[in-house]
Amino acid sequence: MMEIDSIRENIDNKLASIKNLDELTRIKAELLGRKGLFSQLIEKIKQLSKDEKRIYGQNINTLKDYTENRLKAIKDKLEDKQREMEERASWIDITMPGKVPLVGKIHPITKVISEITEIFVSLGFSVAEGPDIELDYYNFEALNIPSDHPARDLQDTFYIKEGVVLRTHTSPVEIRVMESQLPPVRIISPGAVYRCDSDISHTPMFHQVEGLMVDKGIRFSDLKGILTIFIHEMFGEDTAVRFRPSYFPFTEPSAEVDICCVICGGKGCRVCKETGWLEILGSGMTHPQVFRNVGYDPEEVTGFAFGLGVERIAMLKYGIDDIRQFYYNDLRFISQF
Ligand code: DAH
Repeated sequence: MMEIDSIRENIDNKLASIKNLDELTRIKAELLGRKGLFSQLIEKIKQLSKDEKRIYGQNINTLKDYTENRLKAIKDKLEDKQREMEERASWIDITMPGKVPLVGKIHPITKVISEITEIFVSLGFSVAEGPDIELDYYNFEALNIPSDHPARDLQDTFYIKEGVVLRTHTSPVEIRVMESQLPPVRIISPGAVYRCDSDISHTPMFHQVEGLMVDKGIRFSDLKGILTIFIHEMFGEDTAVRFRPSYFPFTEPSAEVDICCVICGGKGCRVCKETGWLEILGSGMTHPQVFRNVGYDPEEVTGFAFGLGVERIAMLKYGIDDIRQFYYNDLRFISQF
């Protein structure tokens, strides 16, 4: 009996030391395995007398049942604990705010081009495009720009090779459109243009929107009407507009269009150079020679054209004083608009 008590105590100590399922497996083998404690105890029965065998056998069996039950209880408890830990580890807090994906924004120049386009589309214009790499013929000659014109100078124009340039304005699209269709024409053409120039108000690449309207009986008053509507849509109904005589080789007569300075309201400031007016586009009645160059009869049709600088309009609209900001691609700047 003494021996049985101390065996039980020994077993209890072992069971109490079990902390996880691996240890349980190991101790279960130590106690109940083929070469484990109980096998050894049962082995001893042979050495006992018949009476002793009965009592000893009974005690061992009771102890074995006890051990098996305890092991089963410990196993259940450890498995519960493990399941609980797994559940806790995979728990998701569905009340947490989601991860916000980084979404891109539209570049301010693209935005202004869309805005300009929408206004002219609402007036019945459609959008035409031309190549950035352009023939000298379309960029200059067909537009009546003489070969000794200063714009042809190597210092202003990027030459790809003899007779091929990066277009210096969007006006060549006028020629391409008129060559490919008969009047009436009512198009605008937004796009990039290039000039060998770089400072606070010039970048080597910038954007223009060209416009052209040709039909029987188009008059200077149509030019004034359409451009005034555009300016009022773009800068507000109350913006004062001024048409000032000017000169372009491809229009006659020509006019530059000014708006009342949006910065100082016309009082005079640094931006409008104290004049109270800001020049925002060039325009005019298409020159008869330009019509002849594309096979239109200037006795039959008349038209007007205009060209505006997108960056300039964007700068005035958003109060930006350095054109280069548009092209540094600093997200802190370009994501503001
Ligand atoms: N192409 C001219 C430039 O880049 C702008 C311009 C002026 C376009 C008058 C026109 C126009 O269509 O009629 O400076």
